[in-house]
Amino acid sequence: MEIRKMGVVGAGQMGNGIAHVLAMAGYEVLLNDITQEALDKGLAHIRDNMERQVSRGKMEEAEMEASLARITPTLTLSDLGKTDMVIESATERETVKQAIFEDLAPHLLPHTILTSNTSSISITRLASRTDRPERFMGFHFMNPVPVMQLVELIRGIATDEETFKTCKAVVDRLGKTSATAEDFPGFIVNRILMPMINEAVYTLYEGVGSVISIDTSMKLGANHPMGPLELADFIGLDTCLAIMNVLHDGLADTKYRPCPLLTKYVEAGWLGRKTGRGFYDYRGETPVPTR
Ligand code: CAA
Repeated sequence: MEIRKMGVVGAGQMGNGIAHVLAMAGYEVLLNDITQEALDKGLAHIRDNMERQVSRGKMEEAEMEASLARITPTLTLSDLGKTDMVIESATERETVKQAIFEDLAPHLLPHTILTSNTSSISITRLASRTDRPERFMGFHFMNPVPVMQLVELIRGIATDEETFKTCKAVVDRLGKTSATAEDFPGFIVNRILMPMINEAVYTLYEGVGSVISIDTSMKLGANHPMGPLELADFIGLDTCLAIMNVLHDGLADTKYRPCPLLTKYVEAGWLGRKTGRGFYDYRGETPVPTR
């Protein structure tokens, strides 16, 4: 099935990155959020990130303007019903996602494929609440979307082969690489990445190392581009905790228990970069470790 028009729900960190790469690949994109402010902020982020690509010689100015012109913001979710594929990238809460799919349902074209960029919610369960579980997929991008090469593709129990092939063809057209994961908690990336981050927090909690020594060890000792605590701040500590809880509940194994120190940071509202403080304090010129 040929996909020309895409709908993206959510103009936040992930949604604006997804709209960015879709528009650059030539898709017409309808970008939806619930407030004008969120849409304006999302579009401003896309422009900033594209300008950075222009300044680094990765894209021509004309290509940037043409890509931006392919993105149409809308506050009306039902407008997305007339697209060939919807990528839901709203808040990572199951009730929110379910409400979006329910609201969209009466407006969808018969062939529209529904996907979710969820990092941890069951695709099978989300799909079962829609009128088209066979045309429903997990479409999981990594942050920052314009830079990261991978998209995880997750089939629900009912997803049909044509839907899978269509999603895979979209990933190919984006110039990214797909990896197929079964629909189990955390899929592949977060099943492996989050326990590593959680272990780094335990390493800090137990006093084995400081924030700096833990991050330096993993950057220089394992060649990771960011240390695990820096990466946790980048992802958002609330997101990290939520994913650990999904692994812990869904796999019922104590090896996934979230570190109490991670919980404490989230309770404090120190959620990482987005709130100005996490394992580092970002409010000054350069990040300063908070422990
Ligand atoms: N949009 C567009 N381009 C961006 C960008 C953005 N938001 N952020 C960085 N870039 C580009 C830069 O322009 C630069 O491009 P060139 O190489 O062409 O010059 C390149 O990325 C590198 O950027 P910088 O030099 O500014 O910074 P860096 O070398 O420190 O790299 C990074 C930044 C790419 C984010 C790197 O630190 C990194 O790879 N970090 C790890 C990210 C990661 O692990 N992400 C996965 C998180 S898990 C997830 O997303 C799943 C989940 O469900 C939680």
